Amino acid sequence: MASLLQPVQGMSDIAAPEVAHWQRMEAVARDVMERHGFTELRTPLMEYEDLFTRSIGDTTDVVQKEMYSFERSHHRLCLRPEGTAGVMRHAAGLGPIEAAGARWYYIGPMFRCERPQAGRKRQFHQCGVECMEEPSPLVDAEILALQVDLLRAWGVTDCEVHLNTRGAGTEHAAVAAGLRAALAAREGDLCEDCRRRIHENVLRVLDCKNEACRAIVSSLPPVTAFMGPESVAYLEAVEAHLRAMSIPYRRDPLLVRGLDYYEHTIWEIAGRRAGSQSALAGGGRYRITLANRAWPGVGFAIGMERVLQLLLESPDASALLPPRRPLLWLVGLGNAAQSANLVLLRTLRAAGLVCRMAPSGSMKSQMRAANKAGAAWTLLRGDDELASGTILLKNMTTGDQRPVPADDALPTLLLSETAPAPARP
Ligand code: HAM
Repeated sequence: MASLLQPVQGMSDIAAPEVAHWQRMEAVARDVMERHGFTELRTPLMEYEDLFTRSIGDTTDVVQKEMYSFERSHHRLCLRPEGTAGVMRHAAGLGPIEAAGARWYYIGPMFRCERPQAGRKRQFHQCGVECMEEPSPLVDAEILALQVDLLRAWGVTDCEVHLNTRGAGTEHAAVAAGLRAALAAREGDLCEDCRRRIHENVLRVLDCKNEACRAIVSSLPPVTAFMGPESVAYLEAVEAHLRAMSIPYRRDPLLVRGLDYYEHTIWEIAGRRAGSQSALAGGGRYRITLANRAWPGVGFAIGMERVLQLLLESPDASALLPPRRPLLWLVGLGNAAQSANLVLLRTLRAAGLVCRMAPSGSMKSQMRAANKAGAAWTLLRGDDELASGTILLKNMTTGDQRPVPADDALPTLLLSETAPAPARP
């Protein structure tokens, strides 16, 4: 039986000090996305299972193998494996007029029952956007650029954009037929999964990791060979916009993406140092049918665990965090001092200081608690200090201490005295 002291396999608690990186990433993401005209949308973690089987596609790995699905009150439900479908459900609920042009972002947990390993979790976090626009190379390039800019704002500079196209939705059957015909003579040399994929979802043969399959697909014509000139021109227009914005990218004719809702532009961003799970982010243009209407959009999602792993491996990871206000600990000897400290605590916190106190204990045990919590400063008083209207300010690093007036000027004095050192340039 699994230990009750551990989170569910493939899921993690996120605690200090690492949580500070999450908070920074979230704050930076909100700032960047709001500057691009996106507002936050928080959809439920649970949806009807059908929403995903219909939009992601029932022959994809996500739907066939990875969803946490169950039945409750006669409904098939599941934990969301990704964010796009829920956002589109929201859009469809608003209706076409209100949803047109909408720009939403989300930050939150997703759930996929995959085999856990470094960089692959069963609960992981995505930061994504969805932009409700009809096909437009300009908008696709804008959204891809936003994703690159957000990664840069987080501190990820060493990554590579892989770009490809799925062609217009109306061409998907022709592309599949063309690939099937091109693979027909080599079918017997493909792995067992790919022999099944040829008939179920032939595009997936292109991203099979098996050596023999890779050798076969590398000799196939690119998917664009099975598309009409408009789809090729669409991709070229996206590329021209990316070049104009100086966004480096690489055309990757074997990139397919693992979700069926895509059409036209698709991309993935790989970290150059992220090891086996190098896909930091993926995105593209899509069309999802809900309530008998096809909803067009373009968006992306970034795997936050993978980005964080990459950032934490860099030698100056701690320099990414803004300096924190130091912790100030109030020590009170006797009931009267403790009670006065509780009042002072609120005043100091309201002034912007970070402070705590122990509920009881000798001076020694209160100082021990201050040390354990990492307090940089302590403020100490007993009956004598209460009577004289002073309080003892101690620097826990140097051990220096001196009495200071416990009056209305105390918060201002402490704010300047305990300010953190400025960040390294
Ligand atoms: P996705 O490629 O399935 O796309 O996931 C996006 C990113 O989520 C991946 O590149 C990866 O960084 C992260 N990710 C996926 N699975 C895991 C996992 N098990 N553990 C850790 N990280 C993971 C989507 O989800 C699409 N909804 C993206 C999109 C939005 N396309 C258009 N709009």
